[in-house]
Amino acid sequence: MTDFDDGPDRLADLLVEAGALTDPAWEAAVRAVPRHAFLPETVWVRDDDPPWRSPYGPDTPEWRDAAYADYALVTQVDDGESLGSDGRGMYPTSSASQPSLVVRMLQALNVTGGETALEIGTATGYNCALLCRRLGDKAVTSVEVDAALAQQAREKLSAAGYEPRLVVSDGAVPVEGGPFDRILATVAAKSIPAAWITQLAPDGMLVTLGVAITPGTGSSD
Ligand SMILES: C[S@@+](CC[C@H](N)C(=O)[O-])C[C@H]1O[C@@H](n2cnc3c(N)ncnc32)[C@H](O)[C@@H]1O
Repeated sequence: MTDFDDGPDRLADLLVEAGALTDPAWEAAVRAVPRHAFLPETVWVRDDDPPWRSPYGPDTPEWRDAAYADYALVTQVDDGESLGSDGRGMYPTSSASQPSLVVRMLQALNVTGGETALEIGTATGYNCALLCRRLGDKAVTSVEVDAALAQQAREKLSAAGYEPRLVVSDGAVPVEGGPFDRILATVAAKSIPAAWITQLAPDGMLVTLGVAITPGTGSSD
């Protein structure tokens, strides 16, 4: 047995115990998808100024623990070119979302099987792999604005046996293949782009991170 073999089960147990993972079908997906296989060799932790340093790689216990712990991991800084001194990063620009947030958002999609889904913000591809596991590769499209990240995700998804449609684009622009029954936006957004609404099938559902809509004005912050 390798250090990772029981990782997905450990993560699922942890999320069930915390009350975050309640849907048996999504639980089965979490148990089936190896999160470590989607993480890059470099992850970043908060430190002194400049704020992000790359501390450990896959050959270390810290990386192995982080792969199946319930916290977000910063997986890219400064759009891939560290701006700080000593190779340190100034701004986090991509991450593997916190697993409890990932499963809460997936469960909020309220799928029963057979739906098509559009994910905005592929990043590592882990969330996309969970969608593929639950809905099937052909039902899943994922959009990532950073071409290098999209290529890494494509390779990792393929190595894990998933072949969804991956698009390099700004997620605020419509993509081919719509309308979609479900849209899952895992990017930070200050407002809801029109394309997220126009690409939704009738009776479809959009799940995104918190956006405050001001009633009557359509504006948000
Ligand atoms: C928080 S990460 C997504 C987490 C991911 N879904 C996972 O599996 O953990 C956000 C990603 O959205 C991407 N992104 C940011 N703005 C975007 C945009 N306008 N369109 C598409 N992707 C975008 C970033 O490059 C980053 O990789």
